Amino acid sequence: EEPQSFYDAVGGEETFRRLVHRFYQGVAADPILLPLYPEDDLEGAEERLRLFLIQYWGGPNTYSTQRGHPRLRMRHNPFVIRSAERDAWLQRMHEAVISLELPDDLEKRLWDYLVYAAHSMVNAPDA
Ligand code: HEM
Repeated sequence: EEPQSFYDAVGGEETFRRLVHRFYQGVAADPILLPLYPEDDLEGAEERLRLFLIQYWGGPNTYSTQRGHPRLRMRHNPFVIRSAERDAWLQRMHEAVISLELPDDLEKRLWDYLVYAAHSMVNAPDA
């Protein structure tokens, strides 16, 4: 029998929908992050991040069907990401993760991944 995926363990699509929606509410209120995002397509950006995370954690592969290989570092090249942008992203994401009220072990696994991934996305030195 297949072990249950992390995606299923945290509640499936609904949980990722809540997570990413809450995150983008934070982005919309964040003076460091908001200028980086496409102002006419925050909803599209929300969908792309949601589908990526769903796929990463063992849910449907819709992200790659629509977007191809994630290549996340390459896709972030157009944006200057220094420690300030990384930390703003993580602050908004932390608010969103906490809002899910997951069991501690699942919350920690999700958060540890996001911290690692955000650090790996930095592509410019601090001035
Ligand atoms: C796209 C910023 C970290 C996953 C984007 C976009 C921006 C951005 C401005 C373009 C929005 C769009 O049109 O889709 C940042 C900043 C980060 C960060 C400032 C700070 C470290 C991350 C991390 C992940 C991630 C850690 C994954 C865990 C994605 C995905 C897309 C995206 C999946 C859409 C890629 C595509 O299919 O085009 N990000 N990001 N980002 N980001 Fe990030």
